[in-house]
Amino acid sequence: MSPTPWWRSAAIYQIYPRSFLDSNGDGVGDLEGARRRLEHLSWLGVDAVWLSPFYRSPMRDFGYDVSDYCDVDPLFGTLDDFDSLVAEAQAQGIRVLVDLVPNHTSDQHPWFVESRASRDNPKRDWYVWRDGTPDRPPNNWTASLTNGPAWTWDEKTEQWYLHLFLPEQPDLNWANPDVEAAMHDVVRFWLDRGVDGFRIDVTHALGKDPRLPDDPPQLAGVPHSSIHDDPRTHAILRRLRRLVDGYPGERVLVGEVYLLDTSLVAAYYGQGDELHLSFNFPPLYAPWDASAWRDEIAMAEAEFGPRGAWPTWVLSNHDNVRHRTRYGSEARARAAAVLLLTLRGTPFLYAGEELGLQDAVIPPERVVDPGGRDGCRAPLPWDATPSHGWPTTDPWLPWPPDPETNNAEVERLDASSMLQLYRRLLAARRASPALAGGDIELLTAPEGVLAYERRLAGDRRVVVVNFSDEPVDVFLGSSWTVEVASDGSGEGGPYSGTLGGSTALLLAPA
Ligand code: NOJ
Repeated sequence: MSPTPWWRSAAIYQIYPRSFLDSNGDGVGDLEGARRRLEHLSWLGVDAVWLSPFYRSPMRDFGYDVSDYCDVDPLFGTLDDFDSLVAEAQAQGIRVLVDLVPNHTSDQHPWFVESRASRDNPKRDWYVWRDGTPDRPPNNWTASLTNGPAWTWDEKTEQWYLHLFLPEQPDLNWANPDVEAAMHDVVRFWLDRGVDGFRIDVTHALGKDPRLPDDPPQLAGVPHSSIHDDPRTHAILRRLRRLVDGYPGERVLVGEVYLLDTSLVAAYYGQGDELHLSFNFPPLYAPWDASAWRDEIAMAEAEFGPRGAWPTWVLSNHDNVRHRTRYGSEARARAAAVLLLTLRGTPFLYAGEELGLQDAVIPPERVVDPGGRDGCRAPLPWDATPSHGWPTTDPWLPWPPDPETNNAEVERLDASSMLQLYRRLLAARRASPALAGGDIELLTAPEGVLAYERRLAGDRRVVVVNFSDEPVDVFLGSSWTVEVASDGSGEGGPYSGTLGGSTALLLAPA
């Protein structure tokens, strides 16, 4: 591996294919739609995309219930469409990561159809089956998305099967070497097709204690998938890492380790022999507050740093209310963009955050997600026309608020837009070794303000973020030039010593 693999300095952009752009008029985004907007991404300046699942699926969990890992669902197109998307993206210098969903399949996957057919089916042990009686599940685990038991009783074969998510998402049994071998074949299939890596769904849940012990009583009712942390997963990841590292070209494994404790997350990097990168969600759930963020940054440094593990930062994705909505104002979302793109680590952007999109308001009759996550999955508006660049005015979910102004075309023509801010920040990251890969040092700052310095060799940048809504004087010693301002004002000029309310600045030495 080269000393600085590409994914350390990269900014990675998540495409939720259903919502990016539709090409065929069925109201659902698809791979061809994504291909047509690659220019948006190269213009913006991101280095890679992560595609949420586009595999064959009954769509009970909108693609995270896979019924064929090696084919494209007709809703999203064909394998040829996928190949065209990857080839064109890579030709434009954009790498492509795909989602790997190894913890569970759809209940319609042929493996599970066989597994549930009879107790002596050769695939019975590919899933997690337990004896019992229909009135009492084998343990007290709670499923995500339903908040019901993580077990479903199979009438025909009179056993329970485990599902950490919907009953239609049975958990695979990774203790069975045949399951691991089959999933390695899936990984090879996509690596051979040229993908640059994987985002791995529910990484931390793969290994399971065969005794499946009860959760402690005080955690009963908490979705088990958010607390499952079994040491068996590490050996599984080491074998996967060896497979992936055996391919040329620095392919990357990014784990979704949904444990809300950064020290637990850091363990999934192993000794540099497990995940290359992991999501770290505590900052996503932190309030818009300077000291909360200071703590999150210090925690990431303390936990990742000594391991040589490279941090990641993410504010929005397809599972959570967008940060523009959570933080409550455009000014804060702009300041948050400065933060996201200047911290030490790899930032992940969720499609539409560069437009400042808010969650859509979903009327009850249009709710489709069993987990209630529709608002952040609203379609991206590309222009100001009634269909916003889509072939239909009425896509699968309602538009987010203000699509006449918050859209890619209008914002591209407006130098003061959120979109243009993201573009300037991404360009500044690329141009500065300190931002792309340098150290971070938290600086002393007045209450309500977060300040830090990034440094690599002779290159330096300072970032100041005013979380309060009032102006604050922040004294920074030597003289600095405003390189990027979240509100666009004063760029290229000297830092005045005062920071507006809900404003952030990226400063370069004068
Ligand atoms: C995490 C994914 O991000 C989420 O969308 C999905 O519902 C669960 N994993 C289950 O696959």
